[in-house]
Amino acid sequence: MVLKAIVPVAGIGTRLRPHTHTAPKVLLPVAGKPILGHILDELTRLGIEETTFIIGYKGDMIREYVQRTVGFRTNFVEQSEMLGLGHAISLAKPFHYDDERVLIVLGDTIFKADLKSVFERDESALGVKKVDDPRRFGVVELDKMGNVKRLVEKPEIPPSNLALVGIYYLKQPRALFDCLDENIRANKRTKGEFQLTDALQAMLERGHQMRVFMVEGWYDCGKPETMLLTNRDLLDMKIQDLEEYARLADRYPGSVINMPVAIDDSVRLENSIVGPYVSISAGTSLRSCIVKNSIIGENAEVSEIVLEASIISDNAKVAGTRTRLNVGDSSEIILGE
Ligand code: G1P
Repeated sequence: MVLKAIVPVAGIGTRLRPHTHTAPKVLLPVAGKPILGHILDELTRLGIEETTFIIGYKGDMIREYVQRTVGFRTNFVEQSEMLGLGHAISLAKPFHYDDERVLIVLGDTIFKADLKSVFERDESALGVKKVDDPRRFGVVELDKMGNVKRLVEKPEIPPSNLALVGIYYLKQPRALFDCLDENIRANKRTKGEFQLTDALQAMLERGHQMRVFMVEGWYDCGKPETMLLTNRDLLDMKIQDLEEYARLADRYPGSVINMPVAIDDSVRLENSIVGPYVSISAGTSLRSCIVKNSIIGENAEVSEIVLEASIISDNAKVAGTRTRLNVGDSSEIILGE
């Protein structure tokens, strides 16, 4: 049976400014490719036949990236007003004329979960994870049988600590579109927006059954700090064998590489120490640098600097300083304090 996907990617990514001034959040790189690239890889691996992307902020950049990256059929719909996730998903309705199964994945949700076994089950299922502060998320309440009993978006008093991570597998997408449309017609908003969670709750009220599946790997890219952590975690998972190390060492004879790293083949390194946990995108050059635990975008020029826990966007130029010292016996010099 056909399996389609919907990936909403219209958001602005305000908390990732200044990086999102020039690129949409989902195109920022982590572990060697854009955030969205990790999701597209997963959709390809799962054999998704068609995906509808809900675009908005810098949507043309996303369209261009998706079209040159994936092999499955794609549709793009523009969300011109930011009216919420439920509203975004409702715009995909024209592409779901038959009641084919649908997988919704939020465009900034990099995940590791066994979706293949979820697809084998004969029921709709929502990806969840136990979190410490569920008030920031959609929260799931289960009954004794493990069926979803109630869903509530960002509740003051959470009924459980199971958060919706942003992966939804639905066997009856048309029922979802009906509930979304009804909430929009009735102007039913939560926190000012049309929520996907509210439409799913409406489906439950109409007797649709849903279960949950645990998502072990949920990699947040919402803020610079969490993006760097995700970069680290994903690089740790990449199989970085000795062969890859030997290849990099061979390509950059004057530099030292500490694995794991993701360095595009077109990157130029001169006299630098790179890694661990460094991701460098195409066309960038580094000269006389020490870089650890950092993300550097495309076509950047970085020289004479020590960088740690840094994010440098596309086309940026960063140059450090050099100091000349003439230091006498028993002196103590501490620079940079
Ligand atoms: C959205 C959903 C929420 C879910 C969250 C996961 O919220 O509305 O139910 O738990 O994604 O990241 P947002 O992060 O857009 O506020």
